[in-house]
Amino acid sequence: MTAPVKSDAKRCPVNIDLLDPDTFENGVPLDKFATMRAEAPVFWHDQPDGYGGGFWVVTRHADVMEVSRTPEVFSSWERGALLLTRAEDEEAQLEMTRMLMLNMDPPEHSDYRNIVQRAFTPRTIRNLEPRLESLANEIIDRSLAKGTGNFVTDIAAELPLLAICELVGVPPEDRALIFDLSNRLIGADDPDFAGSPDEGQLAMGEMYMYADGIAEKRRECPMDDVATKLLQAEVDGTALDQQQFDVFFMLLMVAGNETTRNAISHGMQAFFDHPDQWELFKSSRPQVLDTAVEEIIRWATPVMQFQRTALKDYELGGEQIKAGDRVAIYYSAANRDQTALAEPDTFDITRKDNEHIAFGGGGPHFCLGANLARAEIRIMFNAIADRMPDISRTGDARYLRSMFINGIKEIPVSYTG
Ligand code: HEM
Repeated sequence: MTAPVKSDAKRCPVNIDLLDPDTFENGVPLDKFATMRAEAPVFWHDQPDGYGGGFWVVTRHADVMEVSRTPEVFSSWERGALLLTRAEDEEAQLEMTRMLMLNMDPPEHSDYRNIVQRAFTPRTIRNLEPRLESLANEIIDRSLAKGTGNFVTDIAAELPLLAICELVGVPPEDRALIFDLSNRLIGADDPDFAGSPDEGQLAMGEMYMYADGIAEKRRECPMDDVATKLLQAEVDGTALDQQQFDVFFMLLMVAGNETTRNAISHGMQAFFDHPDQWELFKSSRPQVLDTAVEEIIRWATPVMQFQRTALKDYELGGEQIKAGDRVAIYYSAANRDQTALAEPDTFDITRKDNEHIAFGGGGPHFCLGANLARAEIRIMFNAIADRMPDISRTGDARYLRSMFINGIKEIPVSYTG
C-alpha cells in the first residue's frame, strides 16, 4: 500500500511516538495530550513502516464521541479496532479479527452482542452483587493474612477475574491460568510478560485451546452460564462454530479482567496520592460511593485508545479525513479535556456531571461490561475501606509497557486490619 500524501494535514505539536510502548512506560503523557488538544486536536501521526503511512489522532472529548457514534463512517470492521502496529500481521489476521464483535459494524455487530447482552444488564449485575461482596471479603481475608504484598495481584486482579470466570463458566481454580494468558496477550510488549515478540500469538493459541475444553464440557453438560449461551445461540439460523466460540471467549476473558483490574489499581494509587480523598471516601459512604467509582474510572482510563477506519471522506476538527484513513480515538486524552469536564486534572470523588468516556464515547461498542465493572469497583473499595482502612503503600508502582492499556503491574503495600 502506498502512503497517502498528507502534506496539508496538521502534525503533532509535540515530539512523541504514540506507537512506541516506551512512551507510556512511566504513565500516560498527560501534559503532551494537553498540548495536542490545544494545538492540534486532530493530527496526522506518521507510521513509516506501513499501514497507509500513518493514522489520525483524535484527542478532544467531543471528537472522540463523534467518531464513536458515527459507525457508518468510522468502521471497526474495515481494519479492526486495535491500533495496527506490526506491518506483517494485518492481512493474515483480518479474517480472524473480524470474528470478534469488537471488530464488527452494525447490523452484524448487534446479532453477536445480543447473544451475551442479557448476562450484563443492570438487573443481572444487581443480582450478582451479594456474591461479589462475599468474594471481595474472601480476597480481603487472604490479603490480611499475608500482611504485606502486591496490591495488583492480591486485590485488584482478583474480583474481576473471579467474576468473569464465574459468569462465563470457568472454574475458579483455573483463574491463575486465565490471569497468566491475558497478561501475556495484553503484555506482549512488556518484558515481564513476553518471552518473545510472538508471545501474544502463543498465548492466544493457548486461550483457544482452553476455550475448546470449556465448550466440550458445556456441550455434554449445559449450565446457566455465558459459555452455554454462546453454544446455544444462533445467528441467522446458524450456531457459532468452534472458532467463533473461541474468539468470543477470549474477548470476554481479556476485556473482563485487564480493564477493571487497572481501574482498581489506579484508584488505589490515586487514594495514596490524595490521602484527603481516601479519608473523605471512608467517612462519607454510602453518599460518595457512586461518584467515587466514576471518578476512579475516569482517572484510570484503563483503555487508552481504539482504532476506526473511515469509509467515506469526513471533516473532523477542521481536518479532512479521507476514505481509507485510520483514526485513533484517545480516551486518555479526552477524559482530561477541560471543555467537557471541570478541572479535569483534579481527583475529586464528589465530582458531579462526570461525563467521562472511559467505557467508550457511546455508539454500538459501548463497553458491554460497564455495569459489572462499576459494581466490582464499588464493592472492592467498600470492602477495603471497611476492613483495611489503614492500607499503605510501601514502594513505587511499576507500570505496564503498553501503548494500548494503561496498566499497573505492582504496588507494594502493607495491609493492616
Ligand atoms: C473499568 C473497566 C472497563 C473499562 C474502562 C472498559 C472499557 C471499554 C472500552 C473503551 C470499550 C470500547 C468502547 C467503544 O469502542 O466504543 C469496551 C468494550 C467492551 N468491553 Fe469493556 N471496559 C471495562 C470493563 C469490562 C468488563 C468487566 C467486561 C466484561 C465482560 C468488558 C467487556 C467489554 C466487551 C465485550 C467490549 C466490546 C463491546 C462491543 O464490541 O460491542 N469490559 N470496554
